[in-house]
Amino acid sequence: MKKIGVLTGGGDCPGLNATIRAVVRKGIIDYRYKMYGILEGWKGLIDGNIKELDMNSTAGILYRGGTIIGTSRTNPFGKDNKGDPERILENIKKLDLHAIVSIGGEDTQGAAFKLSEMGVNVVGIPKTIDNDLPGTDYTFGFDTAVNIATEAIDRLHTTAESHNRVMVVEVMGRHTGWIAMFAGIAGGADIILIPEKPVDMDEVYETIRKRHKRGRNFSIVVVSEGIKLPVKDNEESGFVLQSTKKDAYGHVMLGGIGSVLAKMIEERTGFETRCTVLGHTQRGGTPTAFDRVLSTRFGIAAMELIHKGESGKIVVLRGNKIISIELKEVMGHYKTVDDYWYDLTKVFSV
Ligand code: F6P
Repeated sequence: MKKIGVLTGGGDCPGLNATIRAVVRKGIIDYRYKMYGILEGWKGLIDGNIKELDMNSTAGILYRGGTIIGTSRTNPFGKDNKGDPERILENIKKLDLHAIVSIGGEDTQGAAFKLSEMGVNVVGIPKTIDNDLPGTDYTFGFDTAVNIATEAIDRLHTTAESHNRVMVVEVMGRHTGWIAMFAGIAGGADIILIPEKPVDMDEVYETIRKRHKRGRNFSIVVVSEGIKLPVKDNEESGFVLQSTKKDAYGHVMLGGIGSVLAKMIEERTGFETRCTVLGHTQRGGTPTAFDRVLSTRFGIAAMELIHKGESGKIVVLRGNKIISIELKEVMGHYKTVDDYWYDLTKVFSV
């Protein structure tokens, strides 16, 4: 009986449990594999910490947020983790794991790719609320995050209208503006600011003033946490950070740009402005039907690949089809918001 391990790495997101359920059920029912959860991402393989998953332990988790096997941002190839890749190889041998399903975003899949180059059988599944993994039309988690942010914008609209206020809504999106773009369009935002496009503050002030002139005495501004604001003479400032401490993959902790922006808007336009930071609410709770279906399909497809003896691949969504591509194709770059989306918003940002 072959043993297969599944892990979840990086930030949690809705749909992880649905994926774990699909992977485990497909492995047990169709292929008679013994299935194991590797605890807390790559850390579980470094420590040799796994637990068996069966039909019972994965029942009733389809709609639950988070991950029943835990996650971490442990980077086995990080500069402080000398010897960890070798430890992982030893543990895989000791635990007799035939293959690994790695559920994660860019960082997790980067480690998966490096391990596949060292001979580990591994297949990736793309997840992240940021939707910035290249090669796939959508990652799971994104649709849920967009729905949460859209609902929040709808709620903030009523306060904006009642109080004649500008409401700034800060959403996640470290490198790309997918959540801001989709939730902004769905929520009828008046201004959407994303990391892909340099911010022109004069344009922002002007749009808000023009709305007031024509009797729209409130505005909704949706902003990605990862934008940089021009400070003076259109010179770009740095990110706004919660902390300068970097994680194992070298990422700083973003958050707070919304408040800076709100202050600038109030000062320059004279209109009362408030900021709401949605933060981790976007990663929590039950996944949407779209994310449940996508993560289920990804889980099944990943197990089919493993059963065929494939490795170094990742399952992705193209149109309505799940296909697989090489892990190395998704390494080292992000899928950014293209001009099609940006141009579309111009009709509403006047
Ligand atoms: O990568 C997903 C994400 O939610 C980003 O949008 C955000 O910047 C980051 O994770 C936050 O990470 P943490 O949960 O470690 O604060």
